[in-house]
Amino acid sequence: MFAVKVPATSANLGPGFDTMGLALELYLEVQLEIKSSRDIELYFNGDDKEIIDNKPEDNLLIRAMNRVFQESGREMPGLRVTVENRIPFGKGLGSSAAAIAAGVHAADFLLEQRFSRKQLLKWAVEMEGHADNIVPAVAGGLTTVMLYDGQVYFQKLDFPDEIELIVAIPDFNLPTEKARSILPEKIELKKTVANLQRACFFLASIYNSDFNSINMAMDDTIYQPLRKQFIPGFEQVLHEAGNSGALGVALSGAGPSILAFTINNKEVIGEAMQRAFKANGINSRIIYLRANNSGVKIFT
Ligand code: HSE
Repeated sequence: MFAVKVPATSANLGPGFDTMGLALELYLEVQLEIKSSRDIELYFNGDDKEIIDNKPEDNLLIRAMNRVFQESGREMPGLRVTVENRIPFGKGLGSSAAAIAAGVHAADFLLEQRFSRKQLLKWAVEMEGHADNIVPAVAGGLTTVMLYDGQVYFQKLDFPDEIELIVAIPDFNLPTEKARSILPEKIELKKTVANLQRACFFLASIYNSDFNSINMAMDDTIYQPLRKQFIPGFEQVLHEAGNSGALGVALSGAGPSILAFTINNKEVIGEAMQRAFKANGINSRIIYLRANNSGVKIFT
């Protein structure tokens, strides 16, 4: 028996659309046990278990495992798989990326770690489509990713311990395809430059532990102004978080969750964000987290 534990992730972080992501201390945990018979038994505990696909052949985690076994040319053994999930689905917190990351690493462990991390990442990104969630789920911390000549490259920064994270999770889902369907093919040079400046500024601010201007650095000009049509109260939540002392705030991945950073007064900020959603007719749950700096872990 062994277990794989993978963190949730928040992609984009404002200006870093499809580029930056942060791993969060909120987890998908999977226990796996080899059986003598060839079938897969799947059991679920935790959040959203009723909407996870119970059929092993359709389940993302099992599909990711199958992909790695196919590449290896070996047959997947029969398994008893128990999933304990705390990452809500359809909320912009990387639940699919976590399932895929868990699947490729579990398969590789069963295959006695024959594939490189780079290779596993490449397959995981192919399955997920968005490297900015997969990479922090695997590596932990604050990551910046680059796809070049079909390969996945990334850099990781340990996220500062003193920054606390506030996640406002509204009680509706926003499918990533819908959130991407309204994005333009082309972007004005001025907006592109603004986001590039801010994304670089954000990373350097974290690297230098100088958090004074990250509120400006997290102010995206490209996709949030378009996605906010799907998120009632979006602007008000951002505004209230900032007014209550957040260091920076942004849509988490494709949304609809909203992520804020702070050094202190997290409850004041969280409650202000919740009130702003409520004022727009939306119930929300607030969770307080730290960043995860270690990524995928396997326990034996
Ligand atoms: N960068 C992606 C997006 C993340 O915002 O569409 C989706 O998980």
